Amino acid sequence: MFQPLIILALAVSASALNNGLMKTPPMGWLAWERYRCDIDCDNDPKNCISEKLFMDMADRLSEDGWRELGYTYINIDDCWSSKDRDKDGRLQADPKRFPSGIKKLADYMHVRGLKLGIYGDMGTYTCGGYPGTPLDKITLDAQTFAEWEVDMFKYDGCYSNDTEQAQGYPLMSKALNATGRPIGYSCSWPAYQGGLPPKVDYDLLGDICNLWRNYDDIQDSWDSVLAIVDWFFKNQDILIPAAGPGKWNDPDMLIIGNFGLSMDQSRSQMALWAIMAAPLFMSNDLRTLNSGARAILQNKMIISINQDPLGIQGKRILQDKSHIEVFWRPLSNNASALVFFSRRTDMPYRFKTSLATLNYTVGSYKVTDVYTYETTTVKDSTEFVVSVNPTGVVMWYVSAPAKVNSRLFFRGSHIRTFDHEEVPNNIPSLL
Ligand SMILES: *[C@@H]1O[C@H](CO)[C@@H](O)[C@H](O)[C@H]1NC(C)=O
Ligand SMILES: *[C@@H]1O[C@H](CO)[C@@H](O)[C@H](O)[C@H]1NC(C)=O
Ligand SMILES: *[C@@H]1O[C@H](CO)[C@@H](O)[C@H](O)[C@H]1NC(C)=O
Ligand SMILES: *[C@@H]1O[C@H](CO)[C@@H](O)[C@H](O)[C@H]1NC(C)=O
Repeated sequence: MFQPLIILALAVSASALNNGLMKTPPMGWLAWERYRCDIDCDNDPKNCISEKLFMDMADRLSEDGWRELGYTYINIDDCWSSKDRDKDGRLQADPKRFPSGIKKLADYMHVRGLKLGIYGDMGTYTCGGYPGTPLDKITLDAQTFAEWEVDMFKYDGCYSNDTEQAQGYPLMSKALNATGRPIGYSCSWPAYQGGLPPKVDYDLLGDICNLWRNYDDIQDSWDSVLAIVDWFFKNQDILIPAAGPGKWNDPDMLIIGNFGLSMDQSRSQMALWAIMAAPLFMSNDLRTLNSGARAILQNKMIISINQDPLGIQGKRILQDKSHIEVFWRPLSNNASALVFFSRRTDMPYRFKTSLATLNYTVGSYKVTDVYTYETTTVKDSTEFVVSVNPTGVVMWYVSAPAKVNSRLFFRGSHIRTFDHEEVPNNIPSLL
């Protein structure tokens, strides 16, 4: 009589999917936004969904400094498989575009210190019309992915209904676990349920998935980035408690390096994704990436903010009438990140505030602009001005405060000021 109750209690108290993976947001590269379902390898061999594309990107990740920064996943999305399962009912890669097969592709990643992700769909078909993984195929497909030594699985939701999703997403989690291979699990379930309670149960998602898409697919445009940012921060009070080590909200891929964003907008996407503790999956062409985009995507301070071990998702703390918005994320070592974001479309705006206005406690803070690496010391009461470009950001790493000593202060005779050496020097370890 009592045992089921105890098991239930344990299940409820479990805080994250117990596969030991993704204690910080996963990073890597994902094919979809840039390459979609381009299967025309005869006419577009460099860009079609084929093993060659994933090997090219793996070469770039391992040779151009990405892997060392944490970008280790290379993820296949839709349109990789044959239109038919094999004679044993198993999924198989398209023989023309993936002649070596997925296992060989996984080996290719592993010898380079990278990981391979693959894609499937909870319904009868994938969104692109390839064979899905409905309820009766879940165990078999999980075993197939494990045999191929795949490291991550994105489970999309086209051509399935609410009832099937409610069964299928937890069942896949169990099936992946039962393979014995740790496989990161990305669930598109909430995106198909409107992303909000009561339809979406974020406690359950945290127990069964490592990350989940909450909202619409990103497109290669600033409008799309803004729509995503608006939705995530409008709903921040619901989304923030859902996230933590091993379980992440996923606002979708980084489109930096493509065609839709200016440099300022690219800096904004990177900064806001770091505030959101978002997975950092680039979907771009690493073979031809320009140096500006590369510098943004390889910015060590922003990456270390994104990867902060506390894993607390940040929030919007101010929507000023000037159309400057301020975002804040608490970080380990009592540090924090601040983003000043301009929704203006006229000219750089000189936004004046103080850390006290932003509710920082009394003290003297060492502040580093993560894009310029300029460092200054700012007291909580000091008014400062940041110049924020239209659709751009200024992003700061704010070190722990050197506290004003209250006893000295109240004695009144010595009001301490801090010189440079006394300010904690705990900028992120990657720097
Ligand atoms: C499967 O789940 C159990 C219990 O939560 C956990 O201890 C184990 O590490 C998991 N294994 C894999 C491969 O995810
Ligand atoms: C969902 O799909 C299944 C299988 O096609 C079907 O049996 C079931 O009635 C559907 N449920 C709803 C609520 O539409
Ligand atoms: C952070 O601040 C709190 C409260 O001021 C303090 O007790 C704690 O020791 C600090 N932690 C670190 C890692 O500096
Ligand atoms: C600072 O705290 C006050 C009082 O709790 C609150 O009204 C205000 O919105 C906060 N400001 C910011 C920027 O968080």
